[in-house]
Amino acid sequence: MLDSLITEFDRGLRTLFAPAVSSRAHPDEMLPEAELSDAEKQHALGLMRVNHCGEVCAQALYQGQALTARDPAAREALKQAAFEEVEHLAWTEQRIRELGGRTSLLNPLWYTGSLAIGVAAGLLGDRWNLGFLEETEHQVAAHLDSHLEELPEQDAKSRAIVEQMREDEVKHAEMAHEQGAAKLPLPVRSLMTLTAKLMTGASYRI
Ligand SMILES: [Fe+2]
Ligand SMILES: [Fe+2]
Repeated sequence: MLDSLITEFDRGLRTLFAPAVSSRAHPDEMLPEAELSDAEKQHALGLMRVNHCGEVCAQALYQGQALTARDPAAREALKQAAFEEVEHLAWTEQRIRELGGRTSLLNPLWYTGSLAIGVAAGLLGDRWNLGFLEETEHQVAAHLDSHLEELPEQDAKSRAIVEQMREDEVKHAEMAHEQGAAKLPLPVRSLMTLTAKLMTGASYRI
């Protein structure tokens, strides 16, 4: 247990303070940079900052859950998904830099909160843990859909990243479902939606 705590602590520090790397090619790698007005650039930047912050939280959630998951198959599936979330971190991080901005200053705060939620969900047992994960991924996919509506039409680079992330998140939700996720009660789901709203509103600006 102590060993895995140290490993996860180290991963946490790296999530927050070191650049992430992707083994897959970045989805926007071959795409040219589009002409964007200042306002469009700022908007795309805000949206990508929100997405990056979401990926920081995903790291923390998956970490919390991997620490507490009992079933080895579930733990393995969580690890694979977490690996892809690191790639999402790398893609959004680079895109934010290209757009001339920085990641959210609030990331350490959301990271700590998400880690606590991940551990708490994990302590309730694998079915609830996976249920929480499935619902999170559903909500993230829906949220990425809304970003595809909002991102400037010509910003093909940001859009390619968001599209690939969306595809991965849907796969993560299916994985959680296959591993036996429980359906969360409506009040919990609503609370999650509300928390996500607060978080996205803040990290768009700060
Ligand atoms: Fe992700
Ligand atoms: Fe995911």
